[in-house]
Amino acid sequence: MTADAAIRVTGLEKSYGSLRVLRGVDLEVAPGSIHALLGSNGAGKTTLVRILATLLRADAGEARVDGHDVAAQPARVREAISLTGQFAAVDDMLTGRENLALVARLRHETDPGAVADALLARFSLTEAGARRAATYSGGMRRRLDIAMSLIGSPRVIFLDEPTTGLDPEARLEVWDAVKELARGGTTVLLTTQQLEEAEQLADRIAILHRGRIIVDGTLAELTALLPASEVQYVQKQPTLEEIFFALVGEREGGEEDAA
Ligand SMILES: Nc1ncnc2c1ncn2[C@@H]1O[C@H](COP(=O)(O)OP(=O)(O)OP(=O)(O)O)[C@@H](O)[C@H]1O
Ligand SMILES: [Mg+2]
Repeated sequence: MTADAAIRVTGLEKSYGSLRVLRGVDLEVAPGSIHALLGSNGAGKTTLVRILATLLRADAGEARVDGHDVAAQPARVREAISLTGQFAAVDDMLTGRENLALVARLRHETDPGAVADALLARFSLTEAGARRAATYSGGMRRRLDIAMSLIGSPRVIFLDEPTTGLDPEARLEVWDAVKELARGGTTVLLTTQQLEEAEQLADRIAILHRGRIIVDGTLAELTALLPASEVQYVQKQPTLEEIFFALVGEREGGEEDAA
């Protein structure tokens, strides 16, 4: 990749006491792409994201976000990014629209109401906009949270397990929201433990394991790492449809025979 990577991490290390979590992480994320960071519990995904978001200092190595060094220019980095973590920043007492307008005001937008309305429309929350966030479903909350993180047009967005704990329908809603972000040109670094989520969303997938990125590539490149799966004989379970037609067909056949 080129010098204008949206995120560039080189030899990053971080320990908590004697626990060496990051042991030399290298990662590059292209501008406007969705990059998934996969890893099991405790692999260090949140640790890496927190370092990139300037919330935590690395012990060694270098990380640049939108061209700025996270250690030397944290204020510059913060201007360029937005972080949506496991704990949504949504205020339950406010309506969806009020939540958005509040953030827009904090970010010195000239017309907070207009910003709020545009984002409500973009994330299919217009009808829910006048309701208190306390009444929202999990998927609606995450979408509102993602919408809030977009105010001020951050160039890079970190989404730390954006769909953990959501039902399949809400997950789809959030996936649509993330795709929408990337369509707008935002760079997305997304952590997840769900392979399917990475498959659905990511241009590239990096796997963090034992403190390092052990593979990084497109889904096709990752798939090519494994030998083609063997053809296996598996006893096929009948579908409900097949059962239904088998029974109905038999009966009709039986009647015809009897007739
Ligand atoms: N403040 C801390 N002090 C001590 N250990 C910590 C601290 N934060 C994280 N750890 C440890 O560092 C390791 C990596 O944690 P991290 O939260 O980065 O993992 P993760 O990949 O995000 O995991 P998960 O999938 O569960 O969110 C874990 O073993 C965790 O217990
Ligand atoms: Mg985590």
